[in-house]
Amino acid sequence: MSDPLIKVKRLAYVRVAAPDLDEAEAFLLEFGLQVAARTESAVYFRGTDAEPPCYVLTEGPSDVTAIAFEADCAADLETLSKVDGASAIAKLDEPAGGQVVRLRDPQGMQVEIVHGQTALDALDPAPSHVLNVDGRRERKGPLPAVRPGPAHVRRIGHLVLESGDPAAVYAWYHERFGLRKSDEVLRPDGGTQMRFAALDRGPEFVDHHVVGFQYALDEGTRVQHMAFEVGNLDDLMAGHDHLKAKSRKAVWGIGRHRYGGQIFDYWANPWGVIHEHWTDTDLVNEDTAASDCAFEDLEEYWGPQPTLGFIVARWNAKTVRNLASMIGARIRAGRGIG
Ligand SMILES: [Fe+2]
Repeated sequence: MSDPLIKVKRLAYVRVAAPDLDEAEAFLLEFGLQVAARTESAVYFRGTDAEPPCYVLTEGPSDVTAIAFEADCAADLETLSKVDGASAIAKLDEPAGGQVVRLRDPQGMQVEIVHGQTALDALDPAPSHVLNVDGRRERKGPLPAVRPGPAHVRRIGHLVLESGDPAAVYAWYHERFGLRKSDEVLRPDGGTQMRFAALDRGPEFVDHHVVGFQYALDEGTRVQHMAFEVGNLDDLMAGHDHLKAKSRKAVWGIGRHRYGGQIFDYWANPWGVIHEHWTDTDLVNEDTAASDCAFEDLEEYWGPQPTLGFIVARWNAKTVRNLASMIGARIRAGRGIG
């Protein structure tokens, strides 16, 4: 595989369309994002971290219409703009400003590489979370108030791209933006079920994955979920209760992932688009060794088995065939299937 053209700095934002803006906004506020700006055509949401908006909501058929990464410098945009299929550098006519180069990935997803956006000031995060655990006695007095209400989303952390050929999609992102494999789960036939990829920031530690490249059981293409960091475990649990009280659709959780290590909690918006809350991720850097694991040997650290609603986005003959193969492999390995 050739050297990456550039190495992106972070996942910047997603563009999400929904048929009803008011309903979509109600969900996102209950999920714990906050409105940063409104224009005639979009609502811009943010987390509490000092970053530009991480979620752009527009009206249209339910879909994730673009994903965006931040580049280190304007020169990186120059480099990308010369790539086959890339746009020229354009001004981002949006509240955070900046410049953008747009490309289409092999799934047909619009990928925006941005630079020069203006960060917002940080907002109050979740109440602090000093725990008297592991023999430590650091919190004197009661836990700071865990108030009922939405979780405090800090930032967007990662997303999962599903397709029929995740290794090829990974290669595209690796060659252009430097994403590098952190771990991989293999299908019973030896193909890639999930290739986790992190930012390549050299010695700097980063989240275990910024993109997961997943084999779609129906071999369709989509953003399977997008994931947002919340303040801490109490914040995640308070957020869970809040979404439950609002009768939102819980998809999977609460549990702790084997790969990535984060405590997770997945929820669907009114059109079934999956949004994850997570806290306490594993960190990796250039010295962290990647591993491979057979799908049938994969067990999360704790929590319920994934729901069908999480695993299957769409039913077709391929879904049935692939699901049967995976369930068969787990049964042969003596593992649970949910
Ligand atoms: Fe996730």
